[in-house]
Amino acid sequence: MSAIDVPVALLGYGTVGSAVNRLLIESEEEIVRATGHRLRVVRALVRDPGKEREFLPDPSILTSDFRAIADDASIAVVAEVMGGLEPTGEYVLELLRSGRPVVSANKQLIARRGAELFAAASQAGVQLRFEASVCGAIPVIKVLRESLSFSRIHRVLGIVNGTTNFILTEMEKGASYAEALAQAQRLGYAEADPSEDVSGADAAAKMAILATVAFGTRVSLEEVSYTGIESISALHFAAARELDMTLRLVGSATLIDGRYDVRVQPSLVDRHHPLAGVEGAFNAVMLQGDAIQEITLEGPGAGGPETASAVVSDLISIIGTTGTGFLQNDACWRQLEPLPPGEVRSPFYFHVEVEDRPGVLAQVAARLAGHQVSVARLVQHEVASGRAALHVVVHETSVAELAAALAEIAQLAEARQAPTALPVVSARGVPGLGWT
Ligand code: NAP
Ligand code: HSE
Repeated sequence: MSAIDVPVALLGYGTVGSAVNRLLIESEEEIVRATGHRLRVVRALVRDPGKEREFLPDPSILTSDFRAIADDASIAVVAEVMGGLEPTGEYVLELLRSGRPVVSANKQLIARRGAELFAAASQAGVQLRFEASVCGAIPVIKVLRESLSFSRIHRVLGIVNGTTNFILTEMEKGASYAEALAQAQRLGYAEADPSEDVSGADAAAKMAILATVAFGTRVSLEEVSYTGIESISALHFAAARELDMTLRLVGSATLIDGRYDVRVQPSLVDRHHPLAGVEGAFNAVMLQGDAIQEITLEGPGAGGPETASAVVSDLISIIGTTGTGFLQNDACWRQLEPLPPGEVRSPFYFHVEVEDRPGVLAQVAARLAGHQVSVARLVQHEVASGRAALHVVVHETSVAELAAALAEIAQLAEARQAPTALPVVSARGVPGLGWT
């Protein structure tokens, strides 16, 4: 079939880069049939061209010299799949300024330097697409920017890191944290430095990007508070099971009265909630807005072939939309203010160890009531002779009110440990409890 040749360069030929080349070669016929264009990787930048590679039909494409790509005017489009901030950022800027559209899978780069990169793309009149930077194969950026650009999104809730979701799912089945992490690394889900995943930093960058696109305002990475899964233990899973919930690392971006809050936290998720069924390295994003009510997208969030699918889809979209204009603009069109963290509202779970004797529960309940915090469910376990762990779920309250009540509970003479709280994800409520 005759087709227009589109020479593509890759910055990086690791897990994702090699999978992009494989997908372009193996799906060539479908791409030509659908677009009339043949996308062919003609150069790929690596650190070490001599290294053994997963899929490399033509070793001559490899180079360790960025100039071999930047100075080759025949290269029509570039996919950045090398990761890191430097020299990656300077490479992407130079390519955009030279009029080359770029596709990036790099959430840290987009979250930290998005404003500068989009300004360069806009000035040069080329597109910078970044679908693969968020939620692997799930086309959520395309849905937000192209299908829902008109709709007032006020909440994005998501499981946006495959590695941590894989680890939590395995831990729920009984695996140790270390075993599950090692397996996620073997399967190619984890970042080069897996602490990016388990600390919540990777998810925070993805939530900054999702909030920026959903709310049309620049949400910087520094504004996203995050907690990782390092301190999650079997105790949390046991409590979650008893409360008919599960535990997930949940990112939330909320827009209230023109102010936003974006965070990532391990959260108890009600078994009836769509996020509760998201297992392994899968991701899911729930979008809530005026006209759309609620849309949930779920799919593979990490892995070479899965991420390559988003990269290739962006390459195809560039071919299909070059010259039409608006997608080369920055997604931000207004400047909103962050919501003070204490004003964020949610139902919460907390646990606290106390002395097991008459009146202690009343003391705890009084401190909660003093801050208008209402108990929805309570489970008590004997942890040692004369000591009990209270697992408490409270109805929706503000972070500030709960923090004040928990600070008073920590001061009780009968408290054996400071309480720790996790948000509860329960958008659809629990029958009989009516959480919101
Ligand atoms: P990777 O396997 O470590 O591959 C990185 C590639 O970039 C390697 O080929 C490496 O060369 C090359 N590279 C790195 N720094 C370089 C430099 N300074 N100069 C020249 N080449 C350099 O990483 P990956 O898993 O494919 O991830 C790539 C990007 O995709 C990251 O931004 C990551 O966050 C993102 N991503 C990954 C996944 C996933 O599941 N893996 C999913 C979504 C997004 P050598 O091969 O010679 O070392
Ligand atoms: N390390 C990331 C994850 C890859 O586990 O989700 C996708 O960005």
